[in-house]
Amino acid sequence: MIEFQNVEIKYNDFVAVESMNFSVNEGEFFTLLGPSGCGKTTTLRSLVGFITPSKGNIIVNGKDVTHLPVEKRNIGIVFQSYALFPTMNVYENIAFGLRVQKLKKEEIDAIVIETASKVDLNEQQLSKNVSELSGGQQQRVAIARALVLKPHILVLDEPLSNLDAKLRGQMRIELKRLQSQFGITAIYVTHDQEEALTLSDRIAVFSKGKIEQIGTPHEIYNKSASRFVCEFIGDINRIDGEIVKQVNSQAIKKLDVSRSGYVRLEQISTTSMPKVQNPVYLDGKVIEVEFNGMYNKYTYRVGDATIRNIEKNDGTNAYTKGQEVQLFLNADDIMQY
Ligand SMILES: Nc1ncnc2c1ncn2[C@@H]1O[C@H](COP(=O)(O)OP(=O)(O)O)[C@@H](O)[C@H]1O
Ligand SMILES: [Mg+2]
Repeated sequence: MIEFQNVEIKYNDFVAVESMNFSVNEGEFFTLLGPSGCGKTTTLRSLVGFITPSKGNIIVNGKDVTHLPVEKRNIGIVFQSYALFPTMNVYENIAFGLRVQKLKKEEIDAIVIETASKVDLNEQQLSKNVSELSGGQQQRVAIARALVLKPHILVLDEPLSNLDAKLRGQMRIELKRLQSQFGITAIYVTHDQEEALTLSDRIAVFSKGKIEQIGTPHEIYNKSASRFVCEFIGDINRIDGEIVKQVNSQAIKKLDVSRSGYVRLEQISTTSMPKVQNPVYLDGKVIEVEFNGMYNKYTYRVGDATIRNIEKNDGTNAYTKGQEVQLFLNADDIMQY
């Protein structure tokens, strides 16, 4: 229902976004993920109508909205910087857009109370000043303020980045619940790959104004389409030279020795040969142990290279520094770019 067709966006001579192509389905939770400065906000601003592309078209529900003014697009916005009005109470903040539309007082009342209760804000909280609310509650006010206008698209630009880690985790679950409860199409911007992986139906990974890969979290993580995606998403081992040759001497599948290979930490095991087509083992020596609570992260020296893996922390299998350990992997799990 949302389609970006060859969209280019410039700030004067600087091309911030180039030939952007993607489409978002009705009701989908779609995330633009990438490091700071890669063009996520710029892309979002063009969808909302704050900025006009220098090339290409933006289509929403079959209609070309590329040049449509903001107020005609019916898109709800929750921006990190889109702070609440500090002098208004919660009710007035949520009612703001409805008052602009000059709805009757009773109508506004009904919509505000209904929307507030959907985001778990009670009537008592409505009369509070926004500064009396916690960060998480303020975020709910911002979401309610966007939702009262019954937008068919909700855009959220790094909405959780001002919250502490624990609250961010809770709000993540809540956001997802709200999005599916309202059945709304959400375009979500974040630089946090973990957030993107947990929330999204699909993710577009951005780098330097371009999309590197579009896919489900599973695809992005397990079938990373480029060197950039391999390195930006999750934690990964990069293998070159000697190790690639060792893999080739054992596995049926042969790697390209001229390219790097990438293999995720959890694909390396120390307990048994993988029951697969392309098993490989490597001799490693533990050089670093990092306790992470749920799991331990180990770094091994393998020849001149290092390999890392994680092992579930069951309290028994902890290796110690200097210990010699056999590492097993499946050549099919190695991605090459
Ligand atoms: N108003 C602006 N004028 C000039 N350059 C801008 C402006 N806004 C953003 N940029 C530049 O465009 C690029 C993309 O920015 P932005 O879309 O904000 O990235 P992100 O949201 O991914 O961090 C950056 O290089 C940034 O410096
Ligand atoms: Mg941004």
